[in-house]
Amino acid sequence: MKHFTCVQDIGNLQEAVKEAFEVKRTPFRWDTLGKNKTMLLIFFDSSLRTRLSTQRAALNLGMSAIVLDVNQGAWKLETERGVIMDGDKPEHILEAIPVMGAYCDVIGVRSFARFECKETDYREVLLNQFIAHSGKPVVSMEAATRHPLQSFADLITIEEYKKTARPRVVLTWAPHPRALPQAVPNSFAEWMNAAEYDFAITHPEGYELDPAFVGCAKVEYDQRKAFAGADFIYAKSWAAYADDAYGKVLSQDRDWTVDAEKMALTNNAYFMHCLPVRRNMIVTDDVIESPQSLVIPEAANRVVSAQTVIKRILSAMKKI
Ligand code: CP
Repeated sequence: MKHFTCVQDIGNLQEAVKEAFEVKRTPFRWDTLGKNKTMLLIFFDSSLRTRLSTQRAALNLGMSAIVLDVNQGAWKLETERGVIMDGDKPEHILEAIPVMGAYCDVIGVRSFARFECKETDYREVLLNQFIAHSGKPVVSMEAATRHPLQSFADLITIEEYKKTARPRVVLTWAPHPRALPQAVPNSFAEWMNAAEYDFAITHPEGYELDPAFVGCAKVEYDQRKAFAGADFIYAKSWAAYADDAYGKVLSQDRDWTVDAEKMALTNNAYFMHCLPVRRNMIVTDDVIESPQSLVIPEAANRVVSAQTVIKRILSAMKKI
């Protein structure tokens, strides 16, 4: 594996999950693979889980880890080419990226959708600049349109807890006071479709995701109908994708909050969310605190997904 930005980069999912389980059982078995190698984690946006789990994964593999919060202490970066740089941004990303590449062996990048231009977001301009100009393998730690380390951890978690070979998995929109990117739901849909689960998405009208990510998932506008018989409920809020409403919050309808009454319609489903989660907006206290809530093991599996990915990248580097 050279870069990790989407489900295609991981190859065969069954083999990837098997390898992830091995990593989980014996996390220190490859603790010299990353000897004298450095992982640089670059954050354009905030993080708790990704920041800690990816560092932990690199350390488990014997790497050093450096973290850079671009907006706290680094020079402000201009990202547009052709701009006359007479404003408040003293450095251009086209110099900063190769410089950062010179200081490390693998780069992780987090940069969310900005909701300023849908085309720029969905072309993954910044992530692709890192791939083009850093000269190093790049791991997406959540980009504008996907969050593949999260989705891989979600898949590992479902594989650990599922009771049937092909569980019924439902992604549900839920209310949130702010406009959130579509990266997590896009990516989750991409991975669930690739896993060939019985997969459905439910959301209010107006919250349709990019059809390229929805794929063959069933879309159901009646949340209660979608919950019927589900084995896993995955909640997430996202802003509108449609051109005329891109990045907008169309509804904060708390009828869509995941609560015990709706969970009772399911097949005793597990509850999942990538965190951070707004309690009693996205999900009620009793559901997230219930024995069916997987949010903590799901977050713990972020180390496993990151370690499996970085291990593959390091192994590929050794072969060159
Ligand atoms: N789920 C997730 O990526 O969490 P952070 O934003 O805290 O990294």
